[in-house]
Amino acid sequence: MKILAIETSCDDTSIAILENNIVISTVIYSQINEHKKFGGVVPEIASRIHSKKIFLLIEKALSDANINIKEIDKIAVTGGPGLIGTLQVGLIVAKTLSLILNIPFYIINHLEGHIYSAFIGEEESFIPLNAIFLIISGGHTIIGIKNKFEFKYLGETRDDAIGETYDKVAKIFNLPYPSGKYIDELLEYKEFDNLYDIPKVNLKNYDFSYSGLKTWMFNASKKEEYKKEKLLFSFQKQAIEQLFLKIEKAYKEFNINNLIIVGGVSSNSYLRKETKNRFKDKLNIFFPKKIYSTDNAAMIGYTYYLKRNKLKESLYSEDAKPNWKIE
Ligand code: KG4
Ligand code: ZN
Repeated sequence: MKILAIETSCDDTSIAILENNIVISTVIYSQINEHKKFGGVVPEIASRIHSKKIFLLIEKALSDANINIKEIDKIAVTGGPGLIGTLQVGLIVAKTLSLILNIPFYIINHLEGHIYSAFIGEEESFIPLNAIFLIISGGHTIIGIKNKFEFKYLGETRDDAIGETYDKVAKIFNLPYPSGKYIDELLEYKEFDNLYDIPKVNLKNYDFSYSGLKTWMFNASKKEEYKKEKLLFSFQKQAIEQLFLKIEKAYKEFNINNLIIVGGVSSNSYLRKETKNRFKDKLNIFFPKKIYSTDNAAMIGYTYYLKRNKLKESLYSEDAKPNWKIE
């Protein structure tokens, strides 16, 4: 079965072709340069760029996979959550191709896509039935429990997402965009003694909060006593420590021994290293390949493949769902 997958939920236009669970080709146009000067994604501009690029990317993905569009059997497309206008670009293209090629299309949840991104290429039997999952990206900070194909949220951020916090902190220091990756690479091989004492956040339940940390960083950036790189390292450690506290809590409460960490921030090298240091004796840890941490269509096609026997064909009347939850 050949699957054409489309992802346009934010600022990456991505197309992938899969043969069942295997990715044959994948292309991504990142709009970062177009949004850079605004310091964040401008939805209207994002929609226009998706419209401009999407068919060129479909042509490229098909030619990289060395197949004709008529060989495609199914279309998988992100339906949400995400920006309404950008989601609609992907959906209208999926519906049009479905109509012309006379093949079904399936609307897939972006967050489910992220969760399964950790297993792209694997057969279903490889995926743990029960796991704690953590989705950490520019738009989401969610911890929950996966039970077969069902998901339950334990907690979410009450204010900023962790990736958004990386981006905002970077802006305070005039660092280049995309910021999370930049901060990660800047600090990757550095070590610092006596890190700055940033107030710890540990809400009682499973929720997260990042706005206090951002404000603390803003105030610290004005004071000369703080050295920039050491300050950023202290920030990164605190931002990630909050995640670890909740993983620890969930692990103790639910006694589940699998952990899936996905989303743009999951490519962070400090996070990957420290997660292993902290949890490798207690938990089987699953991260996506770094190329599948950030938004991509391969995870959408792969999610369709895993759910193919449970999903109904989507209807032409179905629209984007910008706030679609998975629980
Ligand atoms: O999953 P994603 O591509 O898009 C959303 O669905 O939001 O995540 C993008 C976010 C951005 O906030 C970016 O700064 C952050 O992920 N990010 C990182 C790293 N790479 C991307 N944050 C920390 N370390 C990284 N290496
Ligand atoms: Zn995402």
